[in-house]
Amino acid sequence: MRIHAITLGCQMSAADGAETLAALSRLGWQRTESRDDADAILMTTCAVRRHAEHRAISLIGSLREWKAHDPRRFLAVTGCVAQRLGRRLTQRFPHVDLVVGARSAARYPELLAAELEKRFGVAAPPLPGKENACPSRTARPCAPPSGGNHDASSPNGDATRYRASAFVTIMRGCDCACSYCVVPAVRGPEICRPPEEILAEVREKVAGGVREVTLLGQRVNAYACVRNGRRTDFADLLRLVDGIAGLRRLRFMSPHPGLCCERTAAAVRECRTVCPWVHLPVQSGCDRLLGVMRRGYTRAEFLRTVARLRRAVPGVVLSTDIIVGFPSETEEEFAQSLALLEELRPATAFCFKYSAREGTPAAALPDDVPPRVKEERLAATNAVVDRLTVAALRSQVGSVVEVLAESPTFGRTRTGFKVRWERPVAPGSLVQLRIGSATRRNLLGDIHEP
Ligand code: 5AD
Ligand code: SF4
Repeated sequence: MRIHAITLGCQMSAADGAETLAALSRLGWQRTESRDDADAILMTTCAVRRHAEHRAISLIGSLREWKAHDPRRFLAVTGCVAQRLGRRLTQRFPHVDLVVGARSAARYPELLAAELEKRFGVAAPPLPGKENACPSRTARPCAPPSGGNHDASSPNGDATRYRASAFVTIMRGCDCACSYCVVPAVRGPEICRPPEEILAEVREKVAGGVREVTLLGQRVNAYACVRNGRRTDFADLLRLVDGIAGLRRLRFMSPHPGLCCERTAAAVRECRTVCPWVHLPVQSGCDRLLGVMRRGYTRAEFLRTVARLRRAVPGVVLSTDIIVGFPSETEEEFAQSLALLEELRPATAFCFKYSAREGTPAAALPDDVPPRVKEERLAATNAVVDRLTVAALRSQVGSVVEVLAESPTFGRTRTGFKVRWERPVAPGSLVQLRIGSATRRNLLGDIHEP
């Protein structure tokens, strides 16, 4: 049986989709790049901005004919849109066979396998998995690890294709209440996986050839799990994962600026595998807007956090997220975001036009920045970011850097820069490259043989 995957959205969505596919591949399902060959489609959706949700909905609509071609075909819609719209999706699109929301992400493999077995009768579902509840705020002990969950959720990536890097979800949900963000309502409160389960998953991935792991969480540095009276926080977890033999690189996404502590910075500096690249979403450079956004820090506090991090981890490379056109944002306030970018000098930034999301506190504010102005602010922000990216890339020219080959002629430095070179190497190798030049988006290098 063949399955086709459509994965939309963030790394967590990608990790959920990949883990589900890996579990299904162990049950004999083969991945196909072509919808027409597929007996089933697994769609993982994103609802963070209206545009993303509309894209998912229109893709679901476009699969009507695929399904009509053979009614035995199976269409599963998972992720944040599935969580947000639930039954409304099947009412509007009767050709959808299964809707599973993001709150049940840890159970996608189990739920999907059971439905696929009913339809096609191919294989038994994997052992039932449970979310090992450890709500981070309340610091209740985690439930004991469930053997099945670990089995069902790793390794991620397409089991039929070699991947040098893999994502590992360490927690789900978000306890923050940023006024624009639909994630807390959709994904629910924070739930942390027990450290043993995370370590077992990383070990298994490393045994399967993975060299680089990215730990994922909506506020990944809020990670905290208490088991047998022992608390493991994010800094502890970094040190534990760092101790895994064979792992070469460790990254994490995305930390919350309000939770960056000295202990985490020390772990980033001291752990052999942890890469000196941190994505720290700021959202705005204006104190009034940071307040309305309920981000929990001021511009000065954010910059102090960054200064501390840069002192603790010399050479650390930063990236960030910016929202432009938030309700009531004036030209002057927008200019403060541009000025913040100039001061922060991230290697890159992801810039978004504000998108009102149903049910969020900000959606009750008049969305009063006209679309044309939002567009102009986005273009102006991207122009600044492009310039900063070029400067960051150029600063690497002449250096010799370690690159993890994701394909024979493409890879990334520890600091996250993309590099291309000519002479092919085996994917998964770590190579030393001398950087000869930079384009607008990546570095060009030659294999360095001292
Ligand atoms: N509108 C625009 N951007 C948003 N983000 C989250 N919610 C919204 C929204 N309603 C952005 C933030 C976040 C990133 C993942 O998406 O910048 O960091
Ligand atoms: Fe959304 Fe804020 Fe949580 Fe990030 S920290 S997922 S922006 S609520």
